[in-house]
Amino acid sequence: MKIEGRTFIVSGGASGLGRACVDDICSRGGYAAILDMNEELAEEAVRGIGGGKAKFFEANVLETESIASAVKGALAWVKETGKEVGGVIAAAGVSTPAKIIDRNLNPFSLDDFDFVMNVNVRGTIDLVRQVVPHMAASTPADKDGERGIIVMVSSSAAFDGQPGQVAYAASKGAIRSLTLPLTRDLARYGIRVVTVAPSIFDSRMTAMMSDKVRASLTRVMEFPLRPGQPHEFAQLVTQSIENIMLNGVVLRLDGGMRMPSKM
Ligand SMILES: NC(=O)c1ccc[n+]([C@@H]2O[C@H](COP(=O)([O-])OP(=O)(O)OC[C@H]3O[C@@H](n4cnc5c(N)ncnc54)[C@H](O)[C@@H]3O)[C@@H](O)[C@H]2O)c1
Repeated sequence: MKIEGRTFIVSGGASGLGRACVDDICSRGGYAAILDMNEELAEEAVRGIGGGKAKFFEANVLETESIASAVKGALAWVKETGKEVGGVIAAAGVSTPAKIIDRNLNPFSLDDFDFVMNVNVRGTIDLVRQVVPHMAASTPADKDGERGIIVMVSSSAAFDGQPGQVAYAASKGAIRSLTLPLTRDLARYGIRVVTVAPSIFDSRMTAMMSDKVRASLTRVMEFPLRPGQPHEFAQLVTQSIENIMLNGVVLRLDGGMRMPSKM
């Protein structure tokens, strides 16, 4: 599908991997509705992109009503611009590391577990379920019958989760597992589904890693011996949007890296 002249709804579009997708889409003649909690970063992105190509809609993906009002706003903007919705890029996500029991043998907090699952899984699916009715009904199909794409973000943790990643791995494993049934549900509407599973990419999420953790991860990298860059993530998302044969797949984007158990 062509990016030009289409609007993409990008959760987590204010920062990191989502922001890189917003930049790439807008540089190719597309439009981006940024759904995020971080107004400051989102408005900075909108200003940086300019030309009315990107617009911010405040949303907390933990709350159905918040998603609903952001989606309503984004669809009103689409009506104004006439650039129909080409897809959703669900990049909002959190990681709250905790081992199942701590040094004093206290079990980890279920509130923290629920938080990670609710942002990463429920928040992703809630956004998708609120946008696809519009895409199925209103986005015109091209000659192949294609209407659009859902891009979701999993992680290397879905395959080789590290110590302290029970919650995060559960959430990213869920995204990995639901990719195929979601593809099958949406196929009849000409909507494809692609999930990208990155390893370590530079972003605000990974900026909080200590130098020690960073160095030990670099030691187990295959090639290249550096974290991925957000624009390299965006490149794969752009290819996923443009290549109609990519569907129902989880693409590892990890330079061959497998996450170790010990750091
Ligand atoms: N950076 C990595 O190494 C890496 C690796 C694998 C997977 N991922 C995944 O990529 C996605 C993007 O992460 P990133 O590295 O760009 O992190 P980031 O922190 O730079 O960006 C995440 C964005 O999501 C937004 N967000 C968080 N919670 C939200 C909520 N409840 N409602 C709305 N917006 C919310 C944040 O405000 C932020 O703008 C996440 O799903 C993350 O799990 C990242």
